[in-house]
Amino acid sequence: FSVKSVASSSSPSAVAAEQVSQGLSRIRSLSQVSGVLGCQWGDEGKGKLVDILAKHFDIVARCQKRITEADGLWNGVGGSGGGNGAERGKGGGQWLAKEEVGMLEGEEGSGWGMGRGRRGGISSVGITHSFAMGVIGGANAGHTIYNAEGKKFALHLVPLGILNEETVCVIGNWVVVHSPGWFEEIDGLESNGVSCKGRILVSDRAHLLFDFHQVVDGLREAELANSFIGTTKRGIGPCYSSKVIRNGIRICDLRHMDTLPQKLDLLLSDAALRFQGFKYSPDMLKEEVEKYKRFAERLEPFIADTVHVVNESIAQKKKILVEGGQATMLDVDFGTYPFVTSSSPSAGGICTGLGIAPRILGDLVGVVKAYTTRVGSGPFPTEILGKGGDLLRFAGQEFGTTTGRPRRCGWLDVVALKYCCQINGFSSLNLTKLDVLSDLPEIQLGVLYKHADGTPVKSFPGDLRVLEQLKASISFSFPYIYLELVEYEVLLGWQCDISKVRNYSDLPKAAREYVERIEELVGIPIHYIGVGPGRDALIYK
Ligand code: GTP
Repeated sequence: FSVKSVASSSSPSAVAAEQVSQGLSRIRSLSQVSGVLGCQWGDEGKGKLVDILAKHFDIVARCQKRITEADGLWNGVGGSGGGNGAERGKGGGQWLAKEEVGMLEGEEGSGWGMGRGRRGGISSVGITHSFAMGVIGGANAGHTIYNAEGKKFALHLVPLGILNEETVCVIGNWVVVHSPGWFEEIDGLESNGVSCKGRILVSDRAHLLFDFHQVVDGLREAELANSFIGTTKRGIGPCYSSKVIRNGIRICDLRHMDTLPQKLDLLLSDAALRFQGFKYSPDMLKEEVEKYKRFAERLEPFIADTVHVVNESIAQKKKILVEGGQATMLDVDFGTYPFVTSSSPSAGGICTGLGIAPRILGDLVGVVKAYTTRVGSGPFPTEILGKGGDLLRFAGQEFGTTTGRPRRCGWLDVVALKYCCQINGFSSLNLTKLDVLSDLPEIQLGVLYKHADGTPVKSFPGDLRVLEQLKASISFSFPYIYLELVEYEVLLGWQCDISKVRNYSDLPKAAREYVERIEELVGIPIHYIGVGPGRDALIYK
């Protein structure tokens, strides 16, 4: 994957300027309520596009937790990491402890730094999205933001817009809030001069994630030790369980402290009944109630009826950008269940996660990597096994940087992409990391799944057995033999560096053919093409 030559000059030409200006006017004309969603199994590079779009919106809203690799593990994508209990056990903090921030230092090269002017706000904000903070069980931050003075902020719950003084950040009702983590994040921002009060609103309907949820998470993991359902021990799954079985406690419940002891007692007793290892005592309840009395007071200025706020803002013609977390293939319903998350990171999740009517939802941009990656185990029909996968992994730096844990890599799965586009109704796509494929002599697109008898699988299957059979190992001894039931189209590679290209027409013919074939197969235009980690390494098509 060594770079051989540069495809074309990057000198700012009239064409480049025109394409950027067209791109920007297209961004400005995005609908009043727009969103950015992941099309694969996460880590597509959504952060970069969200950052580019955010300054054209008044509100940046999140409807699910921003989940990184570690959270993926909770959802059963443990796989090879399943046995990695020691690493997962490092904690569940949501704001990076100082020493953990130190661990981020080396990431700047692999992340992306960028400067940008703001409307009267902080004059230059550099943002690095730390895909690598998907630590297995560690304090995973999701995004790391640098302000104008180069100060580093680690964000987990708070949307990317927080460093822009004019942006209001909304955290919707499908986000689960761990109060200690929340205050660490807010304190970290405020002690660095970022005012949060009045600018971050958290839904009064959002559920509270208690420390005991994290304990339960660990106990559940211990029970399932041999079945490779890894968990980050951050309590996310158990908290969603409480929500769904309807004994969860919501942020609005903190306004009625008189009922909190009874509600918490129910939750804690339930956990004690279910898990022998869970030691529950009246003192524990007392302590927790006291703690939440303090939290309630501090949380109050942030609590809002975000459904009302968002809909009022819509009525006032304000623009709202929804920052999606994770991706459709991890959706609890549409993803590769059970190797999925607990919520819906698809278009429907925007409506249920923010209380926005479907007809108000406008443009949705799907973010898709030019190839596919997935963390941990779970079906991956177009996975490239062996050396080919290693090459892609190194070229794309597909590693969790803190743990160095490799991501699985494969060809672009057009069957999964079409399915994802169908579910979400994207108006356009952002194809990221096209540069990573630059040195390949040929590139493949997985275009069809087949049953063992050769007949086509009509659509992306829900049945895990069917998915697993697409790439079933039929020999367990080395060399492994795989039954390959995915049909590929083979396209020529371009074999030169495209990272400096900014005009679509300057891309090598083979690269354009690759982009256009994807458009043709999925029937959705690709408006943005990522050709490098840098903010400017983007082609507006
Ligand atoms: P999750 O929300 O955790 O799923 O991640 P994400 O979709 O937000 O992905 P993220 O923004 O973390 O991007 C992953 C990495 O890809 C980051 O280090 C980006 O800098 C990098 N990246 C984004 N776009 C490109 C691109 O076009 N080319 C290259 N080479 N790297 C890119």
